[in-house]
Amino acid sequence: MADILYFNGRFTTTDERVLGVEDRGFQFGDAIYDVIKFLERRPVLLADHYRRMERALRELEIRSPWTESEFERVVQQLLERTVAADGIVYVQISRGEAPRAHFWPESISPTVVAYSRVFVFPDAAKKERGIRVITVPDERWKRCDIKSVNLLGNAFAKKRAQRAGADEAILMADGFVREAASSNFFAIKNGGIVTHPLDPHVLPGVVRDRVIGLALRARIRVDERPLREAELFDLDEAFITSTTQGVMPVAEIDGRVIGNSRRGTITEALQVTFDEVERSSPQAEPMRAQ
Ligand code: PDD
Repeated sequence: MADILYFNGRFTTTDERVLGVEDRGFQFGDAIYDVIKFLERRPVLLADHYRRMERALRELEIRSPWTESEFERVVQQLLERTVAADGIVYVQISRGEAPRAHFWPESISPTVVAYSRVFVFPDAAKKERGIRVITVPDERWKRCDIKSVNLLGNAFAKKRAQRAGADEAILMADGFVREAASSNFFAIKNGGIVTHPLDPHVLPGVVRDRVIGLALRARIRVDERPLREAELFDLDEAFITSTTQGVMPVAEIDGRVIGNSRRGTITEALQVTFDEVERSSPQAEPMRAQ
């Protein structure tokens, strides 16, 4: 079934072939994207996603196509036309279309695409059971803090996980854990949380930021440092975070069971409080400066 599509200022459906073959997003991966969750046709944590997109556009010197209120209006109009109550909005902004050349013309204007899609979020059983993950080398480019469409490294990592019967891949480099192929990774040991600090090696996840805020509020120690590979197999609990998975327990890493094989108590507490934040969005205010 076709989805509702916003393309450069007008609404159509995904049946329409809108992109030119010389769009730089298609030829050079010269584009940023974001994935936003909606519940009962209300976008979740929209301001956080907007802030991250604007930063990515600035870093890549792509002209922003909208102010925050214009962006909110596009999402609102998209959701008014959407049949599904719960799902995701995919937004992609490329540098634009121009005759193929590595250097781009200064006058180029961005291509904006946004569409909504029904999405089945993890149910209670999955959220309790958790996921299996494998470790793989991080083969991505060096600016993973930018949510660009250069996702070949992520796609290969994820495919390796799928072939190994796992759900997600943890990306390793120089003996340290970075993040996962499409989520951030959190470890829990002796009542404290460890997750990679924000730097060019990891994506500043919207859920990551919220969950750290919730943990600090609950007086849980949060250590933002790279986790050593050796520590990975001596954890009490582990979980990943992302827009589509929320707070998702990790039950197994490379076939080894984490903790006592059940969802840990800290993971569960953060899962419950994060779900509440989602349900109360967009009223919820950011708890930490980004
Ligand atoms: N993925 N790290 C990577 C590499 C990601 O691709 C994602 C999100 C995250 C989590 O970010 P957030 O909490 O803002 O969703 C971390 C999205 C959902 C995707 O590519 O589909």
